[in-house]
Amino acid sequence: MINCEYYNPTRIIFGKDTEKQVGELVSHYAKSVLVVYGGKSAKASGLLDRVFDSLKEAGISYMELGGVKPNPRLSLVYEGIEIAKKNNIEMILAVGGGSVIDTAKGIAAGAVYDGDVWDFYTVTLPEKALPVATVLTIPAAGSESSTGSVITNEEKKEKRACDHECLIPKFSILNPELTYTLPNYQIACGVADAMAHIFERYFSNEKAADVTDRLGESVLKSLMKYAPIAIKENENYEARAEIMWACKIAHDGTLGVGKVGDWASHNIEHELSAFNDVAHGAGLAIVFPAWMRYTYKQDKNLFLQFVARVLNVDIDYEYVDYSINLGIDKLKEFFKSIGLPTSLSEIGIYEKDIRGIAEHAIYVNDGEPLGNFVKLSADDIENIYRLAL
Ligand code: NZQ
Ligand code: ZN
Repeated sequence: MINCEYYNPTRIIFGKDTEKQVGELVSHYAKSVLVVYGGKSAKASGLLDRVFDSLKEAGISYMELGGVKPNPRLSLVYEGIEIAKKNNIEMILAVGGGSVIDTAKGIAAGAVYDGDVWDFYTVTLPEKALPVATVLTIPAAGSESSTGSVITNEEKKEKRACDHECLIPKFSILNPELTYTLPNYQIACGVADAMAHIFERYFSNEKAADVTDRLGESVLKSLMKYAPIAIKENENYEARAEIMWACKIAHDGTLGVGKVGDWASHNIEHELSAFNDVAHGAGLAIVFPAWMRYTYKQDKNLFLQFVARVLNVDIDYEYVDYSINLGIDKLKEFFKSIGLPTSLSEIGIYEKDIRGIAEHAIYVNDGEPLGNFVKLSADDIENIYRLAL
């Protein structure tokens, strides 16, 4: 294990009806909040009204900003910053998924900054931010207890991340029942994203992190077990609860302890989302099997461990490459079985597009190669996209 620091202070309030506690929880931090939410789901389900009622009961004044779109846009972050600055907002409360939470984090950082908040996604990091809290409605991105915010600059067609511990939510309310209304496609996208968060940490050149590896493998197996159940039985509480906790733990730092994360596939995917607005998890289901096929020779033993323990491949040591590729095929089949795309052509990206997207991935990374497990140049990224065509 490499030397490391583990810090995750987000208080998690987990279980049925927990959103009713939101007003009381907010009152520990603020008297005025900006409630940020998405397109329609939180309003339609009545969740937003329950949140407002709880805030009123606790004597918290609130303003609202709806309309966050998936692959959240910078323009709405600017709007939120203006509201927060003009109205002495003391806390930003996100009611929604990763896109809403990341918008809330952008607003929180921008509200206490005189410059352009996009600076934090490009050239510098925030030193402070208003406190953020969340009522999570989709298990996926892990933003409910992560340091990250990922925002799309729609004018520049750039999707970029900002990571700083001042953005970690103070508390997050996780009620699995709130996820019953999710379309099956969104459940699948969320599961793929959480699996990707584990892969990014698991495939590392740091070998001695057995506890971390085995924890990651277990969470992957639980996700693969419960995703089909949640898709088949939309109101299966147990499946929803397991997935919600798995998605949280996949990205709260626990499964990266003692290892160096890779994160190339996330950057490679963000380019796809910026290019044609594909859902993040769907993009990852396309990218990861291709990335695995391209990089597994870096550490065949690690890949053998992965395909044996997680994908139940019966390893043939005479034909190691075959066994690994069989595992990657199984992963792809799993993604397909839960309704995700596994090729670029399925989302309208073709051979003619991939060189430009690969070069842009390097440009967004300040000209540096992507990843740590294997460092990837624009040629490598193009080859990975080609494997995914
Ligand atoms: O806008 P509404 O109507 O709410 O619809 C949303 C949206 O269309 C819908 N939805 C959410 N909860 C629902 C629901 N529909 C019915 N019932 C519910 N309970 O789901 C759709 C997707 O929502 P979104 O917030 O975009 O999903 P997700 O949580 O997957 O977030 C994806 C974003 O997070 C970023 C991704 O890049 C992407 O932009 N990420 C953020 C990270 C972080 N901050 O740490 C890390 C991740 O790797 C990821 O990059
Ligand atoms: Zn992700």
